[in-house]
Amino acid sequence: MIPVSEPLVTAREIELVTDCLKSGWISSAGKYLDQFESGWASYCNMPYGIAVSNGTTALQIAVRLLDLKPGDEVIMPTFTIISCAQAITYCGGVPVLIDSDPHNWQMDVSQIESKITPRTRAIMVVHIYGHPADMDPIMEIAQRHGLIVIEDAAETHGAEYKGKKCGGLGDISIFSFYANKLVTTGEGGMVLTKRGDLAERARSLRNLCFQKKQRFLHNELGYNFRLTNIQAALGVAQLERIEQIVERKRAIAHTYSERLKDVAGIELPVEEPWAKNVYWVYGIIIKERTGMNASEFALQLAQKGIETRPFFLGMHQQPAFKKMGFFKRESYPVAEKLFRQGLYIPGGLTLTDEQIYQVSRAVRGILK
Ligand SMILES: Cc1ncc(COP(=O)(O)O)c(C=O)c1O
Repeated sequence: MIPVSEPLVTAREIELVTDCLKSGWISSAGKYLDQFESGWASYCNMPYGIAVSNGTTALQIAVRLLDLKPGDEVIMPTFTIISCAQAITYCGGVPVLIDSDPHNWQMDVSQIESKITPRTRAIMVVHIYGHPADMDPIMEIAQRHGLIVIEDAAETHGAEYKGKKCGGLGDISIFSFYANKLVTTGEGGMVLTKRGDLAERARSLRNLCFQKKQRFLHNELGYNFRLTNIQAALGVAQLERIEQIVERKRAIAHTYSERLKDVAGIELPVEEPWAKNVYWVYGIIIKERTGMNASEFALQLAQKGIETRPFFLGMHQQPAFKKMGFFKRESYPVAEKLFRQGLYIPGGLTLTDEQIYQVSRAVRGILK
């Protein structure tokens, strides 16, 4: 099987993790944590970084920072991972959904303004599959309506919007460092923010809201969402070669695009003129006129020894939220089509050029 993604661990990661283990600083303090937080924040051009246990917990902290009142609304795309919407509902908020742009698969910014109500507190932008969302209009709408912008840049390490890094544009941003991400710490995440007060609160929430002066006196309820120094050592090693990682991901995508561009039955991922796409995954859409949907196509690739993953199922189609009374009778046709017809093919950092050619031949062969 050609795997959809495999992490690339080099001698440098082993060296730094070994050094960390030998130092005895194996829990949630140590030099690698400091280096990873400050290194990642400065890479994204943000002043404050707070490392956490994963991207899902990073989102929980980001939404806690909004101090939502029950029924407050946060606008977000329906086409994303459940971590985004559940972070809002855990805080008593209501996710208000937006459909996707059919061309670049990002949140359709033209639909945002009509969804703003007196209860709207924030916009959660999610950059999808390595490509940035169209941030300028989003920031402009947020400013005009006094809304906070949370950027979920879990999938867009190193991606750029008009020359600026994703995760460096909103008020608060989050990242995931799961094994399939461009930079991985095994499990891990980060909250970045422009505001010192929010950074301090995020640090406190991450660590059970212990206090400096009187440790076991708690003024609010936090979480244990800490990252270990061992995981951060992995992150520091990977951050050292992030430019190489981004270049390889782009090269994989360009090779696929070159080999698949004349295949009539599929749509390929785009790169808008204002974007630098890092192609976290290489997603393709099987055109409906082929008579095939994504799961049928995936089955045929699996029979040829090629692993794939389906696209996201929209938040409005999740039984867990329906049971809670959310999104009744809501429909978002673009996201529904992306789910039905979209999948991603192998694109991890261990993929060889020969494997890319093999996958491309298989895709062409099915659609011949
Ligand atoms: C857009 C997005 N946000 C958040 C997450 C959650 O990250 P984690 O898996 O580290 O909890 C992911 C995971 O892939 C994601 O794709």
